[in-house]
Amino acid sequence: MTTSLRINDTAPDFTAETTAGPINFHDWIGDSYAILFSHPKDFTPVCTTELGYMAGLADEFSKRNTKIIGLSVDPVDNHHNWARDIEETQGHAVNYPMIGDTELTVSKLYNMLPADESGSSEGRTAATNATVRTVFIIGPDKKIKLMLTYPMSTGRNFDEVLRVLDSIQLTAQHQVATPVNWQRGDDCIIVPAVSDEDAKAKFPGGWKTIKPYLRMVPHPE
Ligand code: BEZ
Repeated sequence: MTTSLRINDTAPDFTAETTAGPINFHDWIGDSYAILFSHPKDFTPVCTTELGYMAGLADEFSKRNTKIIGLSVDPVDNHHNWARDIEETQGHAVNYPMIGDTELTVSKLYNMLPADESGSSEGRTAATNATVRTVFIIGPDKKIKLMLTYPMSTGRNFDEVLRVLDSIQLTAQHQVATPVNWQRGDDCIIVPAVSDEDAKAKFPGGWKTIKPYLRMVPHPE
């Protein structure tokens, strides 16, 4: 059965085989943030570039107390073999676990499979059993903070995932939101729930009122 997940839902827990051994997802997350991302198939070109890029970002995620884990319906042995190609061609060793979701357990829990033309699970083909490109950011509270779904033929922008993670972590600590194309260090927006009176205490350095509902404040420390 597939589920319809929403932001703020508790991320479904599961046990799975991974390249780092069996895991229980919630235990594996622990007190960290986590990024769970699926790719369609091992030994395919776009996926090779994506997983290599994620390996290159590992230090950035680690600095942000964030674990990353990949997934496809390929077996763990294939993941291990393909990881050698990724390192050779992309210059980064895959240093995060990859789930071998051969029974489609996690794919179904997280709605990672594309719509089946036949509409029935019996009619699924090898192509419709390939997971689409999804990304979930999950907090230490195990709640879903972000969900992304990309087409098969489009490689993701993982710098954007890092940018959203920065925004999520900042806005979890301070009563701010982040404007269009915001990057770490840029000015932020004081959320409407904070009155000017309360803002004086929270942002003693002051802010700029462009409209009563649009108040810009320097990036909180
Ligand atoms: C790829 O990674 O290149 C790819 C995988 C599945 C469908 C289309 C492209």
